[in-house]
Amino acid sequence: MSASREQFSSRTGFIMAAAGSAIGLGNIWGFPTQTASNGGAAFVVVYFILAFLLAYPALMAELIIGRHARANVVTALRGISTGTKSRALATTVGCYGVLIASLILSFYAIVAGWMVTYLLEPIALLAERPDAASWLTGFSFERNLLSMGIFMGMTMAIIASGIQGGIEKWSTRLMPMLLAIMVCLIAYVMTQDGAMEGLKVYLVPDFSQLSPSLVLDAMGQAFFSLSLGVGTMLIYGSYLSNKESLPKLGAMVTLVDSGIAFFAGLLIIPAIFVAQQNGVTVFTEDGQMIAGPDLIFQVLPSLFDSMGDIGLPVALAFFSLMTIAAVTSSISMLEVPVSFIAEETKINRKATTVLVGAVIFGISTTILLNFDQLFGFVIDLTTVYSQPILGVMLCIFAGWIWHRSNLLQEIQSGHPEIVGTLFWKIWPTYVRYFCPILILATFIQSVVN
Ligand code: TRP
Repeated sequence: MSASREQFSSRTGFIMAAAGSAIGLGNIWGFPTQTASNGGAAFVVVYFILAFLLAYPALMAELIIGRHARANVVTALRGISTGTKSRALATTVGCYGVLIASLILSFYAIVAGWMVTYLLEPIALLAERPDAASWLTGFSFERNLLSMGIFMGMTMAIIASGIQGGIEKWSTRLMPMLLAIMVCLIAYVMTQDGAMEGLKVYLVPDFSQLSPSLVLDAMGQAFFSLSLGVGTMLIYGSYLSNKESLPKLGAMVTLVDSGIAFFAGLLIIPAIFVAQQNGVTVFTEDGQMIAGPDLIFQVLPSLFDSMGDIGLPVALAFFSLMTIAAVTSSISMLEVPVSFIAEETKINRKATTVLVGAVIFGISTTILLNFDQLFGFVIDLTTVYSQPILGVMLCIFAGWIWHRSNLLQEIQSGHPEIVGTLFWKIWPTYVRYFCPILILATFIQSVVN
């Protein structure tokens, strides 16, 4: 690849960007609600096991292929394939990954747009514009379109500025802010009545809740949270210097991502019990904890309302947290189609970003116009069905199609002492047999049920 291809400027830059991609609505919203609806701490334990046993090895496959090929997902997979058939497969899988990454962004931008409106609502209230505030939290097509558009605009602006000037710069600025806001919010929630009850539900495992569907939910959650399957981590790996040790950086990203998900649970689950203490309805009629969108857009706003004067700044902090988490993830999704088209056509990055952004904006608008038919469908198509299959395919490329000696050479690059370590002995075989079989088995079970 050309010498002028951009790279992250440092190890920290890469970690911030990759952790920024991984840490998103999936961590702060998905993980706690999955935990709540799967019986608390037992889910947390299973999630951590799967994150390191299945998601981490799959993450490594993407990072290693990406850094070796130094190219977008399609070119990278073609580059490690030697036969005509495997090259055709590479093109198919790569293009499918690009499509799924774009579709994930098309629904993610809608949800993230809602976070932006809830962030603007307290500001409208402070400006004494209750009419604007209620428009912002209503569910009109115009409001959804506008908020999705604002969010897409922010994502496009960052991607148009490139790797160091866009992705790295904004991830490095925003991720520490995210952590700081989160710590403050946890500290505040913990002082409230009811928090300890929530903490108990979250931290004391009830293993009688273990079931195949819990394991499946945990795997899906881990794959979504680590941004796997669609070439996101592959393209970030392609911007990483050869001097860095991939297994270490990958482990760090997995750890930070799971750690933040765990922290988010410390915030959200106690907050639900504080809300209950304050008289907010938090359980449905059949005794289930309210999860999904209602948790974020009803339970928590009611909680903020019940807090008195401090409610407004707390709401502001919470929805800033959500928006930050979403932006550093959405840029990593947009980078997948943008890098592919820019590298294939030689159209410059800015023009490509506008082009791809406009197409995804169009898809999101179509989803908004047919919300009931398309919204859930696109989420299931991408995250439930496509991500695991693509994850399996990437493991097959790393384990079967790629020449073993090249693979081993890439693992050693930047980390010669790795030879003889546990990772060196286990991972190449693991990614060849265990990963695809385990992912596939879990997946088939979900489709059958
Ligand atoms: N991991 C992010 C989250 O937890 C979302 C995300 C970013 C993603 N890039 C992705 C999900 C690629 C799937 C594929 O919110």
